[in-house]
Amino acid sequence: MNEIGLGIIGAGTVGSELIRRLTVGLDDIRDKTGLELVIRKVAVRSLDNPRAFQLPAGVLVDDPFSLVEDPHVDLVIELMGGVDPANELIRLALEHKKPVVTANKELIATNGQELLETAQSQGVSLLFEAAVGGSVPIIKPLWETLIAEQIVQIIGIVNGTTNYILTQMKHHGASYEDALEKAQKLGYAEPDPKSDVDGSDAAYKTAILASLAFGAWIDPYDVHRTGIENIQAEDISYATELGYTIKSIVILDRTILGLSARVYPVLIAHDHPLARIDGATNAILVEGPFIGQVLLAGSGAGGEPTATVVLGDVISASRSLLIGGDSIPRVRVSPEDVVPIDVLLAEWYVRLEVDDQPGVLSRVAGAFGDAGVSIRLVRSDAESTNLIVMTDQASESDHQLAFSTLNDLDVVHEIASRIRVHR
Ligand code: HSE
Repeated sequence: MNEIGLGIIGAGTVGSELIRRLTVGLDDIRDKTGLELVIRKVAVRSLDNPRAFQLPAGVLVDDPFSLVEDPHVDLVIELMGGVDPANELIRLALEHKKPVVTANKELIATNGQELLETAQSQGVSLLFEAAVGGSVPIIKPLWETLIAEQIVQIIGIVNGTTNYILTQMKHHGASYEDALEKAQKLGYAEPDPKSDVDGSDAAYKTAILASLAFGAWIDPYDVHRTGIENIQAEDISYATELGYTIKSIVILDRTILGLSARVYPVLIAHDHPLARIDGATNAILVEGPFIGQVLLAGSGAGGEPTATVVLGDVISASRSLLIGGDSIPRVRVSPEDVVPIDVLLAEWYVRLEVDDQPGVLSRVAGAFGDAGVSIRLVRSDAESTNLIVMTDQASESDHQLAFSTLNDLDVVHEIASRIRVHR
């Protein structure tokens, strides 16, 4: 009576783990929920690829559209990723009044509003808890638990791959390349890990958070992003000496100029709560006048944590289906532009390769001073030609002016690194 037929689209890291859990871990779910979850169809790109799971004959198919339209499939789980054809498949499922669970951040960030409207008009569930933060519950807390808060800021680590790489580089002396390869092997990275390391994955997640926390439907491509590809081991060491850790973070806040949304690596003080978040762990700090700060943290990537949260959504949507209701993040959203990064204030850590000769320091200081940027700290390294400068808060555009002057100075060989500082 409480049987729900599942159609799963995609059997990569998360999909395979979900199938495994649905084939071996069902007793526990049945005992706790009274639900009988039955895999009816699994759609994959190629039927010939080797699989880590076994399914009865006829369950594995290569046509996701037939899966969605199969009358024995009551609920669709989309884990294929990307916008096309996932968007069309989910829309079709909702139009057939089938609840949908997805972990697809790119799709929800770009087409979520339309899909949520379709779900509402059809009266069926659309859930995507695993799209942000892996196993960290953040979607439901934002649209249910914390809905009465007037959130002023969200700051977090929302990409497990980059946090894993930076942790491996800092604590285990790993090279960027080796750490990335390990993150791929552990199933943290996206099929194309470029979107992890260049900040795109975090930007999609940021756009989803903006809609739920600020009611702002922002274009994920307008979220300023800087990747971690250029972070050097040397900078990690200098940052440590200076009392900081390098983390890739997202910041969403309401400034007097409007909503700001950005993703970039920062030097963050050792005693900041996010500085201690290591490995593939994600952490999201939500701040508002009534709650103060709430920190949600946990495994941010990987098959097991993510599949568990997908399964949680499946159970939630199944319960709604059985009682004849829906489960949809209901936050009223309006389209909103994000504030361009140039007008924001920032502090920077800059590592310069300089000539070892008298007068260099004054010329470097002059470049900052002429741009209206004051210097907080200068450190030269007797062992190398590195000169570290940390600035006080000034506008991003004034900093850019200083950087372009530095680039033109003959005593500066190169700006080897520049990373923002978060206080
Ligand atoms: N590639 C993503 C990450 C997976 O590393 O965070 C979880 O969204």
